[in-house]
Amino acid sequence: MSTTSRPGEGSRVGVVGAGVMGIGVAEECARAGYAVTLVDVDRERLAAAGDALRRAALVDRLRDPKGEHDNWPARIDFGTDDTRLTGVSLVLENVTEDPGTKTAVHRRLDELCPGVPVVVNTSVIPITWLAGHTEDPSRFVGVHFMNPVPAKPLVEVIRGELTSDEHADAVLDFLRSIGKDWVPVADSPGFVSNAIFMTVINSAAELVETGVADVEGVDRVFRECFGHPMGPLESADLIGVDTVVRSLHMLQKFVDVGRYEPSVGLTRLVDEGRVGRRVGEGFYQYASGRAGARS
Ligand SMILES: NC(=O)c1ccc[n+]([C@@H]2O[C@H](COP(=O)([O-])OP(=O)(O)OC[C@H]3O[C@@H](n4cnc5c(N)ncnc54)[C@H](O)[C@@H]3O)[C@@H](O)[C@H]2O)c1
Repeated sequence: MSTTSRPGEGSRVGVVGAGVMGIGVAEECARAGYAVTLVDVDRERLAAAGDALRRAALVDRLRDPKGEHDNWPARIDFGTDDTRLTGVSLVLENVTEDPGTKTAVHRRLDELCPGVPVVVNTSVIPITWLAGHTEDPSRFVGVHFMNPVPAKPLVEVIRGELTSDEHADAVLDFLRSIGKDWVPVADSPGFVSNAIFMTVINSAAELVETGVADVEGVDRVFRECFGHPMGPLESADLIGVDTVVRSLHMLQKFVDVGRYEPSVGLTRLVDEGRVGRRVGEGFYQYASGRAGARS
């Protein structure tokens, strides 16, 4: 095992939510040397997170069979009992993109770990609004991580109106310690990325629905004409079609009801439970291990 010292060594952070983003955030923190307490209300999601994290460590070993490997997954402690969060030096909240769910978790953090910075990972919801439902808005800092977290070096950082310099600086130091760079962004719904990208996904789904092109056709235009690494519908499957629809609803709540109305193609996939890669099917099917468009 490597003996190199790591920036996070000696500190414990809490990660709340073990879904698509919480898994990646926990991985980045553990790789940087932090002890991580990962909590979720759903035991199945926690078990899936454990599998995903062990697979990520296995991929390291397969890529470099002769190298020295830090056993970073051993630094992650999983559980449904949120009192484990007591005593952490920083919390990263990654729960479902729903204002009620997020504010309930934030109020619980008021009780469990007062005084420490709270990093809110949200696709769309303004940080000032979320922080306003808690006892100490000064400690809330928005960090919009990109998916997959370990592969994306850049994040959007959002200060709420009442965020203190002390907590903002602590979060920036933390981001440095896990190797992330950032773009400061104003506290505007959807920030830069999703104010634009959610409308792109929504329009792409609508073009499929109205027969302008099929799923693969739309994605190929983005990949092969624009040079994007992924098309918008592949991206929707990666994000989670349910999270895309929730994000559009939040843009409706905070910006404009008509402009962000989720397209029929998106809502149908959510109603059918075909929410993307996480469940093996969305705009594409993944069960065979190789993505292919649904017929
Ligand atoms: N998916 C993406 O590509 C992406 C990218 C950037 C930001 N985000 C944002 O990150 C956040 C998490 O998104 P995700 O894609 O990981 O969602 P997800 O649906 O995959 O996971 C959310 C997790 O939160 C858990 N949860 C719900 N209520 C909880 C509670 N009270 N306590 C503890 N855990 C609870 C759920 O059980 C679930 O495991 C959302 O706000 C989302 O908008 C998502």
